[in-house]
Amino acid sequence: MAEVYVMANQKGGVGKTTTVFNLGVALTRLGQRVLLVDLDPQASLTVYSGFEPDDFEKTVYHCLLRDAPVERTAAGTPFGPDLLAANLDLSLAEFHLMNAIARERRAERMLEAVQDRYDFILLDSQPSLGLLTLNALAASDQVIIPVACEFLSIRGTAALLRLIAKVQGQLNQDLAIAGILPTLFDNRTNHGHRMLHDIQQEFPEIPLYPFPVNRSIRFPESAARREPIFDNANDIPGAEAYWRLAEALCGRVRT
Ligand SMILES: Nc1ncnc2c1ncn2[C@@H]1O[C@H](COP(=O)(O)OP(=O)(O)OP(=O)(O)O)[C@@H](O)[C@H]1O
Ligand SMILES: [Mg+2]
Repeated sequence: MAEVYVMANQKGGVGKTTTVFNLGVALTRLGQRVLLVDLDPQASLTVYSGFEPDDFEKTVYHCLLRDAPVERTAAGTPFGPDLLAANLDLSLAEFHLMNAIARERRAERMLEAVQDRYDFILLDSQPSLGLLTLNALAASDQVIIPVACEFLSIRGTAALLRLIAKVQGQLNQDLAIAGILPTLFDNRTNHGHRMLHDIQQEFPEIPLYPFPVNRSIRFPESAARREPIFDNANDIPGAEAYWRLAEALCGRVRT
């Protein structure tokens, strides 16, 4: 059975997609079988993975709403993981889901048939708390919350935590918060350290990964080159953080 993780935060630009992509690649390089699922109509994960969203005739939209089988719709990527792509079709999904039967459980149902094909399924979610994100949370075992080490970034996290609690109460009692992953951390500034400290203080009951992902221009550079960070700048602390996160998911602790 695959372990299903979702990266969720309704704040935009905090590194959800960067985390899904690089974590997925790192996991495959540790020998795991990985499926990435793009649940954001912006389709950034599809682009990061080296594809043109409009080149896909069938995408996650068809799996969610038309019962297209995931195993025939997902594509291999050059980096290891398989990808269930998205394109703008997905922007219609929230609307069509409104009238669908068991509308919060479509993603869960969609993934049932591929649970044995993968060790990890990583879901990328959009920056909103709508039906697509609700579907992603209902389908997941664990949620990782990337939080930027920036002013105002923890505002709004409380709303996400309330939604997670609702999902735990009504849709998916097994959903666990794996942890908050601090992102865009600037080690050189007091502000960065202050923000990291604030995240720790604000959510004492939630595990915090002890390896913030440092801010580095190499991330947007790698994204523009459609490469995982490891192929472009494996020696930077941010790449190291993603290796450590992958190892944490595999239950390995480096000595
Ligand atoms: N550690 C980092 N250092 C510097 N830039 C980063 C880092 N992580 C991500 N970025 C950049 O920040 C931008 C937003 O990242 P990303 O797309 O992963 O965020 P997101 O949370 O998925 O955004 P959205 O909410 O719009 O889906 C991208 O340009 C990405 O390359
Ligand atoms: Mg994104």
